[in-house]
Amino acid sequence: PAPGWSIAADVVVVGSGVAGLTAALRCEAEGLKTVVVTKARLDDGSTRWAQGGIAAALGEGDTPEQHLDDTLVAGAGLCDEEAVRILVTEGPDAVRRLIATGAHFDESEEGGLELTREGGHHRRRIAHAGGDATGAEISRALVEAVRARGLRTIENALVLDLLTDADGRTAGVTLHVMGEGQHDGVGAVHAPAVVLATGGMGQVFSATTNPSVSTGDGVALALRAGAEVSDLEFVQFHPTVLFLGPDAEGQQPLVSEAVRGEGAHLVDADGVRFMIGQHELAELAPRDIVAKGIMRRMQEQDAEHMFLDARHFGADMWEHRFPTILAACRAHGIDPVHDPIPIAPAAHYASGGVRTDSQGRTTVPGLYACGEVACTGVHGANRLASNSLLEGLVYAERIVEDIAASRAANGLHARVPHPVPYPETPEHPLLAPEARFAIQRIMTDGAGVLRSAESMTKAADQLQRLHTEARDALAENGKTAEPGVDTWEATNLLCVARVLVAAGHLREETRGCHWREDEPDRDDTTWRRHIVVRLNPDRT
Ligand code: SIN
Repeated sequence: PAPGWSIAADVVVVGSGVAGLTAALRCEAEGLKTVVVTKARLDDGSTRWAQGGIAAALGEGDTPEQHLDDTLVAGAGLCDEEAVRILVTEGPDAVRRLIATGAHFDESEEGGLELTREGGHHRRRIAHAGGDATGAEISRALVEAVRARGLRTIENALVLDLLTDADGRTAGVTLHVMGEGQHDGVGAVHAPAVVLATGGMGQVFSATTNPSVSTGDGVALALRAGAEVSDLEFVQFHPTVLFLGPDAEGQQPLVSEAVRGEGAHLVDADGVRFMIGQHELAELAPRDIVAKGIMRRMQEQDAEHMFLDARHFGADMWEHRFPTILAACRAHGIDPVHDPIPIAPAAHYASGGVRTDSQGRTTVPGLYACGEVACTGVHGANRLASNSLLEGLVYAERIVEDIAASRAANGLHARVPHPVPYPETPEHPLLAPEARFAIQRIMTDGAGVLRSAESMTKAADQLQRLHTEARDALAENGKTAEPGVDTWEATNLLCVARVLVAAGHLREETRGCHWREDEPDRDDTTWRRHIVVRLNPDRT
């Protein structure tokens, strides 16, 4: 069936985290008719959960060049240097504009921004808000600005597919909307520019710091639309996630790197600081190195977790500087003022995503991507801590510059969309909602923090089986599952999981956050390059 309703705009922004709302606000400032669509409520994405802060060379003596150096080292040889240069050079002003939009950052007693450190940074350059509630403050400020300026928003709107015209140019998106009155059911927003800002895909694993909405929808849409996707094998596992048991599933509480930035120690059950001697920065080494250090110690000692010890902070500092983490720990019966915190790595951030150039353009004309869904090249094989909020800001602004420039050059013309298959095709049959848990277990066992050719072959076979069963059910019954958010999410998770495993299998080396047990060395001769995937090439 065709979409039941449609509206028209110049730009549709899909997603409402820091990247999406920054893009939307800039579009509005440019006089572009803009609609923001978001899968749940405006503040339900990953941005709200960000703790540590936003990195930028804002401190005395710091420079974009030093921020660039730290980013390139963390990225393990795969960053696009030009993309990083843009990030670190435009970053400080982008943060100032965010402050002008209404975000309040913590200030030092002298009155300037209070800056902290995190893994891989040689300087204090992380601005934070509410102690450890930076994302929540950014989200609050942006949502309030969007509401104050009367931007059109549609919540509970799961994006399905990209619409393109006869020449393969972007013409809008289809959506499945629930409970939003006149725009209920499957509909379309027609627009010649689409900004994907749908966030990450942490829910592809059993235990993740990501909220339940992070199901890879934007990457799956881009793959179905024939856009290039890159670097999906580089999933970052955050080293210090509160350990709630070996079978904990879904979103897990993060214990920010800023806790280590302020002097917490990683210790084993005997109280030994095992990161000393592994890297000059010890607990503040880049994230991949710390995650590996923790996993190795867990293996050596056959332990389920390690500990983060910050008892020496004392109650005042915990309450003032890390109130969110303190409350989360206490809610789980751990008091960090008196006890070391049990931690283990969990899936945290997709360094790869929809491939873009320095203006956020994907390989489909009119389709842009920014934030975690994008692969701009700034993160390489391992994102430097707190560079992601900054990337969302900087590249969202660049996208709007590009849209405004193309309007000035040619006008923004509505395009006649080709009909898109809905709800399912043999290549993309809908999965039953329960498939989500099967996918998460397969991925955690086969393509988690430690991988091998054998584990990924097994994972690929199991994922293929899920796909084949759904495809056969479609052929037999004409439909598989009832279309709805749960079924689309499971379907999108399977789509991105298969590509992630294929890329991880292909990359026969260990680099950044891609850790192969069977290929333990970095291989710069063969693998200092990117794995770029494009499905449906005839659609664009
Ligand atoms: C953290 O607070 O540790 C997370 C920071 C990040 O992922 O950039």
